[in-house]
Amino acid sequence: MGYIFATLCLAFFKHSASAAVSSYNVQELGAKADGTTDSTKFFLSAWSLACASNVSAQVYVPSGKYLISNAVVFSGRNCKRTMVMRIDGTIIAPADYNLIANDEIWIKFDNVNGLYISGGTVDAQAAPLWACKASGNSCPTGATSLGFYSSRNIVVSGIASINSQMFHMIVYKCNNTKLQGIKISAPVDSPNTDGIHVQLSTGVSILSSQIGTGDDCVSIGPGTTDTWIESVSCGPGHGISIGSLGWNLQEPGVQNLTVKTVTFRNTENGVRIKTWARSSTGFVNNVLFQHISMGNVKNPILIDQDYCPNQENCPDKVSGVKISNVIYQDIHGTSATPVALRLQCSKSFPCSGIRLQDVELTYNNQSATSSCANAAGEASGVMKPSSCL
Ligand SMILES: *[C@@H]1O[C@H](CO)[C@@H](O)[C@H](O)[C@H]1NC(C)=O
Ligand SMILES: *[C@@H]1O[C@H](CO)[C@@H](O)[C@H](O)[C@H]1NC(C)=O
Ligand SMILES: *[C@@H]1O[C@H](CO)[C@@H](O)[C@H](O)[C@H]1NC(C)=O
Ligand SMILES: *[C@@H]1O[C@H](CO)[C@@H](O)[C@H](O)[C@H]1NC(C)=O
Repeated sequence: MGYIFATLCLAFFKHSASAAVSSYNVQELGAKADGTTDSTKFFLSAWSLACASNVSAQVYVPSGKYLISNAVVFSGRNCKRTMVMRIDGTIIAPADYNLIANDEIWIKFDNVNGLYISGGTVDAQAAPLWACKASGNSCPTGATSLGFYSSRNIVVSGIASINSQMFHMIVYKCNNTKLQGIKISAPVDSPNTDGIHVQLSTGVSILSSQIGTGDDCVSIGPGTTDTWIESVSCGPGHGISIGSLGWNLQEPGVQNLTVKTVTFRNTENGVRIKTWARSSTGFVNNVLFQHISMGNVKNPILIDQDYCPNQENCPDKVSGVKISNVIYQDIHGTSATPVALRLQCSKSFPCSGIRLQDVELTYNNQSATSSCANAAGEASGVMKPSSCL
């Protein structure tokens, strides 16, 4: 389904690029490519025109730098056809971070059915906000650069996102969404600059992408099912994380996640599942981590169900999130700490159905060690460190 959709979009895209009949060029509508004149309204008018078109239409952003000074929402609520946005230029945020930093999302796509975005760079220029946060003064939280909300049938291809205020991208309440050839970068010490966060969504894939940030590479929040992550390189940053889960008492689970052919370089974690040590109805079921390469990773394989920084609201200090059927297959490389495999599961809801197969992780040229608590399952093939299940 996703593949067919992408193919249709591509076919359309090739056609429209040559025909250019229903292409709305933001520059022709008035946007200035000078990086200093606010182009928000011209982007919105290009979107409205394309959206009202009876034939599938394209918003075109030519090369150059376009300032989007405000939080902007591209709503698909009344769009008649698949929307296409082709970006050759760079979209930049205002030099004064306050203009967007109290909004949740800087550039948001909402309620779109059928969206194909290709190319371009989105630069939130957030260094001054990070400096404010580092100074200990009170500063706004910051906006996530790109948000896809309550949408379906989306393909985002070849876009770069740099130096976000908060997360670079969020996929929230979406179905059938493909992100491919994405490049995300922010410095290792930039706070909360997660790469891609997925939540309450079904059928999301993240393919052939490079993500280096100051926080998680990809994070998977509650209510995420049928997710596929393949051929992604992570680092620097905090690795791929399922979680944090279990903050809320009532919470939908994470199911059917595949993470395949991923490399981690100089990251805090490799593949991590992290849950608050609180009561919750949340769960994790059916996860495959396969063909994973670790280079100098502090916690290559980690389940942490004791998460409760500052003892914040964890009265009984036990996670209610039940973790089951997690497979770690062909995980190799180097750990930056002696314990390369740590499965710290819930006392009340032990992990079950954990499978370790062909794990080879070294620390300083020696076999690393492993540590398990409340984890059941089986190990097979090469096991270095030896299994603690
Ligand atoms: C789109 O189609 C509708 C119904 O067929 C028609 O009334 C309308 O004028 C068309 N709009 C444009 C911009 O062609
Ligand atoms: C996604 O699929 C679910 C389950 O079929 C449905 O309830 C939800 O409305 C869909 N969301 C969108 C944005 O299409
Ligand atoms: C997860 O995958 C299984 C097996 O393929 C399937 O039966 C089940 O419906 C899926 N669950 C969800 C929530 O997608
Ligand atoms: C690891 O061992 C190899 C070969 O035995 C050696 O060449 C290399 O320098 C060693 N690396 C470290 C970090 O000790």
